[in-house]
Amino acid sequence: MLIHLICAARPNFMKIAPLYHALKKESWANPLIIHTGQHYDLNMSDAFFVDLGLPNPDINLGIGSGTHAEQTGKVMIAYEKVLMEQRPDLIIVVGDVNSTVACTLAASKISYKTINTINSSDTTNTTNRERPLVAHLESGLRSFDRSMPEEVNRLATDVLADILWTPSHDADENLIKEGVSPDKIQRVGNIMIDSLEMLREKIEKQDVYGDFGLEAKGYGLVTLHRPSNVDDPEALRRLCKILVQIAKQIPLVFPIHPRTRKNLEQNQLLQIVENNKRLFLPDPLSYIRFMNMMFNCRFVITDSGGIQEETTYLGIPCLTLRPNTERPITISQGTNQLCEVKDLEEKAEAIISGRIPQANKIEYWDGKTADRIVEYLRKFGQD
Ligand code: UD1
Repeated sequence: MLIHLICAARPNFMKIAPLYHALKKESWANPLIIHTGQHYDLNMSDAFFVDLGLPNPDINLGIGSGTHAEQTGKVMIAYEKVLMEQRPDLIIVVGDVNSTVACTLAASKISYKTINTINSSDTTNTTNRERPLVAHLESGLRSFDRSMPEEVNRLATDVLADILWTPSHDADENLIKEGVSPDKIQRVGNIMIDSLEMLREKIEKQDVYGDFGLEAKGYGLVTLHRPSNVDDPEALRRLCKILVQIAKQIPLVFPIHPRTRKNLEQNQLLQIVENNKRLFLPDPLSYIRFMNMMFNCRFVITDSGGIQEETTYLGIPCLTLRPNTERPITISQGTNQLCEVKDLEEKAEAIISGRIPQANKIEYWDGKTADRIVEYLRKFGQD
C-alpha cells in the first residue's frame, strides 16, 4: 500500500511522526512523507523533523507563504502532479491547515484511469484504484466559527475524505450531525499524545527553563499566532501591555511565531515587550525544547489548537485567548478555559494563587493511536 503522509506546517509534524514510524515497521505499507513547504524555516519545520526522528521528506512541494487562495491553489497544482506520477493508494491528511484541504481536493478529483493513458512510467504504483482514498486524521473537530480559516478547512476536508479518524466522542457526534455515514468514522484517539509519549524521556531530560534562569513551575508559557489576536495592531498592543502586567507577578516565556514577530515589528510593538527581564522572547522552540517548557510551567496562555490538548493531558492550566474552541473536551474534561483579553490578567492571577482545574483521563489519549490506525489499515487492506 503506497501511502502519502501529508505535512505542511508546524502542528502537522507531531501528527505524522508516530504514524510514519508505525507504518515503517509493516511489510505491506510503503509510507512516503510529502511536505508541502507551507512552513519552511529551520525553527518551524526542520527542527521538528530532527526531534521527531523523521527522515527528510520524500517530496517537498516548496509552496511557502501566500494568501489563502494562493497557498491552497499552489499546493493543489503541485500535488496533482505528484499524484499523477506516483498513484498512491491512500493519502493521509492531518489537522486543518490550508495544505490539508488542498491535498484532499486534489486527491478527491483525480482519476488514475485518465492518467494511465498519459503516463505509463514503470516506476509508478500499479494500483487498481481509480483514485487514492483520503483519510483525515483529527477529523470532526468544529469551532462553529467560519471566520477561522481552519474551520473552513476542517469542514471541506471532512466532506470529501473517505475515512474519518476522530480524536474523541464529540468529534464523532459533530460528523453524525452533519450527516456523515457512521461507517466512515473511526475513533482512534489523539495522535499528538503518541508523539509526547514517544519522546517523554528526552523531554524530561532537558532543562530548557534553566537556560532562561527559571525554575520548574516558576514561569508561564505563552504562544500567540492566530490572525484574530495578532493581525489587528490595536488588539496586539493591548495584549502586549497585559503580558507586561502579568510578567510583574510571574516571569513569562513567549516564543514568537513568525507571523506574530512580523506584526510586532511592522507596528513598532516589539519595544513594549522586549528589554523586560521577566519576559523572554525566544524564536520558536523545537518540539522537545518546547515540550520541556510546557511540562515544567505553571500555566500556559495560548491561541493554539494542539496546546489546549497537550496541557489537558499533562494537567497544566491553560488560558485560551479565543471566543471558541474546536476542542471543547479540553474544557469539559480538562484544564482549559476560554478567556477574553480583558479577563486575562485576572484569570492568570487566579491560577498563580493556586486555583487550578483538575483534568480527567480522556479515552484513547494514551499514546496508542498510531497502533490503532495501523491495525485498521491492515484489516482494510485485507478486505
Ligand atoms: C498556519 C495554519 C494554522 C496553524 C499554524 C501553526 C493555515 C490556514 N494556518 O498558520 O492552522 O495553527 O500554521 O503555526 O493553514 N512564516 C515564516 N516562516 C515559516 C512559516 C511561516 O516566516 O516557516 C510566516 C509567513 O511568511 C506568513 C506567516 O508566517 O507571513 C504565517 O504563515 P502561514 O503558514 O500563512 O500561517 P500561520 O499563521 O503559520
